[in-house]
Amino acid sequence: MKSMEAYICYFFFLVIKYVQCHDNELYEYLNRTDRSTCQLYEFKEDHPKPIGILTTSSGKLVEIRESIGLNSDVFSNQYNIDLMTHTNAERIPERLVHAKGTAAFGYFEVTNDVSQYTKAEVFNGIGKKTPVVVRFSTVVQNLGGNDLAREIKGMAVKFFTKEGNLDLVSLSFPVFFHRDPIDFPYFIHALKRNPKTNLFDFSARWDFITKKPENLHGLLWMLSDYGIPNGYRKMDAFPIHTFQINNKHGGSYFVKFNFRTEQGVENLPSSAAEAITARDLDYYTRDLYNAIENKNYPAWTLEMDIMSFDDIKKIDYNPFEVTRLWKKGTYYTVPIGRLVLDRNPDNFFRVSEMSAFNPGNLVPGIPGPLDNLFKSRRSAYRDAQIYRLGVNHNRIEVNTPLYSKVYNRDGKPPVRDNMMDAPNYYPNSFNGPVPYVDPSRLKERFTVFDVNAVDLDQPEYFIKHYLRSDQRERLINNTIPTLVPIAPYLQRRAIRLLTLTDPSLGREISEKLQEALKQPPPPPLPVLNEPKRKMKS
Ligand code: HEM
Ligand SMILES: *[C@@H]1O[C@H](CO)[C@@H](O)[C@H](O)[C@H]1NC(C)=O
Ligand SMILES: *[C@@H]1O[C@H](CO)[C@@H](O)[C@H](O)[C@H]1NC(C)=O
Repeated sequence: MKSMEAYICYFFFLVIKYVQCHDNELYEYLNRTDRSTCQLYEFKEDHPKPIGILTTSSGKLVEIRESIGLNSDVFSNQYNIDLMTHTNAERIPERLVHAKGTAAFGYFEVTNDVSQYTKAEVFNGIGKKTPVVVRFSTVVQNLGGNDLAREIKGMAVKFFTKEGNLDLVSLSFPVFFHRDPIDFPYFIHALKRNPKTNLFDFSARWDFITKKPENLHGLLWMLSDYGIPNGYRKMDAFPIHTFQINNKHGGSYFVKFNFRTEQGVENLPSSAAEAITARDLDYYTRDLYNAIENKNYPAWTLEMDIMSFDDIKKIDYNPFEVTRLWKKGTYYTVPIGRLVLDRNPDNFFRVSEMSAFNPGNLVPGIPGPLDNLFKSRRSAYRDAQIYRLGVNHNRIEVNTPLYSKVYNRDGKPPVRDNMMDAPNYYPNSFNGPVPYVDPSRLKERFTVFDVNAVDLDQPEYFIKHYLRSDQRERLINNTIPTLVPIAPYLQRRAIRLLTLTDPSLGREISEKLQEALKQPPPPPLPVLNEPKRKMKS
């Protein structure tokens, strides 16, 4: 009997040892593995038992034999049909631009009194916190694309304010490519994939840029170090346009907002980016996710560059042009607060994919920009989102404002409560929602006129004064591989434009290009080692 007990004891000892050993193994695995790779284990830790009984989408409990398709009547199996047909319909259109991105939640905290400039509730009251959702993106990549492609990056910030959603839809460069909204569709066509080859095409890009030279300033930013930040956390972001804002007395100012990263601006040289690309196309996505999971919360300071109406009248350039920077000494800068990201979404599709930012989402105290590019954006985003998500995209959870009362009804779901039994026309005598009166609303708004002429002083300034000499040299190095694959007449046009901008830059690029063209072409990749097509004579 005694020995029987001993055996039983030993048996339990072994079981406990086995479990411990496996726990240690798992512990060590988790300890050496980054948070983005551990997500499933973390789910299991939070849910030690299955989270429930499996059902069909209509809620029928699934019996275990329905989960096997072999040797059974699969088309009498509603679970099978439900599963197949839903999977087939999982995809929605990707965004036209900014398709690849990732989102995070956080808050904005006011740190400075800016009430003299704007009465916007979100920016008033030191210490006030407003919830935000932020979506970072690359611009030209498709949904599964490369975070590290040399490009512009996006940072769209939605503030859920008590006065409605404020969206500051920003880019990683302080300038945009062109001022005329009609240029946008063709710019995007030239930048994105060739309609026959479905490949990125430097001929299209340089052709368009040299025919529309106002795009050069933005292109130079893209070819510089700023074209590849070392992650979304390490970049500044800019809504770019000059916004009109007003205080509660109706006094108005013109400002440019800037998000300045508290992690420090850091960029990657092409060679480093290529090395990372070979291993991880999702480097930025992973970096942001891990930082937030590790409670290393990324933060940005929001500040604004300010000019009064009198200042605007005195300057010798057009401060509304999105292709130019405001000149030093013509404005002053005031901090507003801090943006902190402290929570990863539980579900990518629910938050990142279904988020809908619209620069036209503004609040009282920020009547917004006056230029035509901005006016065009007010409708472009909504149009794209009606196509992508449906007319009720603001009723999707991630986009829902804290408060809304509308006369909009129906349409493709989700409609949420659809305003229930409230009157659906305005004006009415039955106490449907009514507009309010804002005594400090601006009495006049201005019309901004743009000149058509192309001004190369801004790209020249960027090259001559903005970039350090090593940055300038890397810009030249980054430009050469974009010129090598294009035809000589396009190369000449590109060099001519660069020379007009800055003669020494044009000369240096021309010389390096000649060098590069003399080099034997790089050895072909094995899969591309096909005989070249003979030219027809
Ligand atoms: C005429 C000029 C422009 C047009 C027509 C335009 C159009 C668009 C469209 C259609 C989208 C996709 C929207 C969606 O499907 O949800 C988009 C996204 C975006 N745009 Fe623009 N855009 C323009 C200029 C700009 C400028 C000047 C900026 C920045 C200052 C900007 C920043 C962004 C960002 C950050 C996103 C991604 C938003 C997200 O993460 O969902 N765009 N744009
Ligand atoms: C976890 O990993 C770190 C190194 O990444 C190591 O220093 C530490 O000792 C490990 N902890 C345990 C309990 O294994
Ligand atoms: C630019 O490229 C040349 C080789 O073509 C290289 O020697 C030089 O170091 C590069 N410059 C920078 C700043 O990386």
